[in-house]
Amino acid sequence: MKERKVLWSGRFGRGATEETLEFTSSLAVDRLLARYDLLGSLAHARMLYRQGILSLEDGRNITDGLKVLYEQAEEGELPIDPRLEDIHTNNEFLLTAIIGDAGARLHTGRSRNDQVATDVRMWLRDAILETIEAVMSLEHALMERASASVNIIMPGFTHVQHAQPITLGHHLMAHFYHLQRDTERFLDCYRRTNISPLGSAALAGTTYNIDRSYTARLLGFEAPCANSLDGVSDRDFVAEYIFAASLCAVHLSSLCEELIYWSSPEFGFVEMDEAHSTGSSIMPQKKNPDVAELIRGRTGATIGDLTNILCTLKALPFSYNRDLQEDKTALFAAHERINTCLLMATPMVAATQFDKERMLAAARDGFLNATDLADYLAGKGLPFRQAHAVVGKAVRYCIEKDKRLEELTIEELGAFSDLFSEDVFDILPIEQCVYRRMSMGGTSPEAIPMQFSQGASILTRQKDFVQKERDRLDRAFRQLIA
Ligand code: ARG
Repeated sequence: MKERKVLWSGRFGRGATEETLEFTSSLAVDRLLARYDLLGSLAHARMLYRQGILSLEDGRNITDGLKVLYEQAEEGELPIDPRLEDIHTNNEFLLTAIIGDAGARLHTGRSRNDQVATDVRMWLRDAILETIEAVMSLEHALMERASASVNIIMPGFTHVQHAQPITLGHHLMAHFYHLQRDTERFLDCYRRTNISPLGSAALAGTTYNIDRSYTARLLGFEAPCANSLDGVSDRDFVAEYIFAASLCAVHLSSLCEELIYWSSPEFGFVEMDEAHSTGSSIMPQKKNPDVAELIRGRTGATIGDLTNILCTLKALPFSYNRDLQEDKTALFAAHERINTCLLMATPMVAATQFDKERMLAAARDGFLNATDLADYLAGKGLPFRQAHAVVGKAVRYCIEKDKRLEELTIEELGAFSDLFSEDVFDILPIEQCVYRRMSMGGTSPEAIPMQFSQGASILTRQKDFVQKERDRLDRAFRQLIA
């Protein structure tokens, strides 16, 4: 069998066993970092030459070799040797194979410790922008459905019990705002991810006269990190991303949970599109909301990734420890999962049919106008707490008589309070309960459009940011490989 090559043969005699090398390899996971690793090396090499640490000839050879490898990586044709420890080792050996000794000079003034931290940050920047776009697509789909639903009346729930009537538009926009905070959290995480640890070297910095601001700039980072120990040990940005993904997954699971039980015959509020449903192998009549269930179900794995990274970081002493190699497994999995869930949720939300008659009919049951009736009495001067008690008695009467509040006669109401007069029938219709809630953020069709304009301007701002960052990084990378 071909020997495994390592980067540290000098100190070792017999060396590690085959099992140890297999066990300690991260290549199966970190091959995703290939392009970022090559870009990072291009920046590092350019800086070494600029600082007079590499000769012009070595600098040129290294750059040319790295560009060849970069091309191959972009084509998916980088000849990765599965027996090497990681992508960094792979790229260094490949470079040396192409250009000879000069390749072995690239690792001057840096360590894999700062190299891997830099690569993961570069990968994550792109990953965050991708996730933000996926969340924004779902936000957009929710807003579209919401704007067509401002006049669809449904029961609003607390404790899954009928509470007060609302509009479907209002309900969908509440989901929109949950997701809107997710995008903000991802953007915030982006800021802290966009800091360069390159040049922290193994842990203590380096004796070479390197220029960390220059490499940070070349790689599109906001700035170099201030402390080299922090630079190689910080994985907060990984934990932050997975937390943001977990909370986003929790939000998706709530949305899906509602769609799932709303599609049950007992609710009948929605009809899931066949495109996002599957059948049963035994019950021919079945159409199950499996996509929504799986999005709900995969939340568990994402929270698992969060637990994974936090437990990995817990009680780690400074600075680099091999435990940190495990960060990528959790990070890559969380990213892949949240993105596919978002990409499935978006067309699912867009295609779901809402049954407005069922929703309105449900809103007429369960005394959703009881608060309005208490407010009516309070408006006539009765302290609200007393008004609450009066209406509570009226509700109990209605339950006994199998009536709705709006079906009581003025005489029946008069038995509970002498403050009732004919105008009470103006406020009791369910539609009035909705229309009259015009307070800011309220459910009235008049109050909701403000949310659309606010939501749209937030989306525009976030979209501009993503585009600007994409262009900026693209420009930086193009200059590196030019
Ligand atoms: N494969 C390692 C990782 O992903 C690279 C860094 C190795 N550094 C070390 N000192 N062994 O973390």
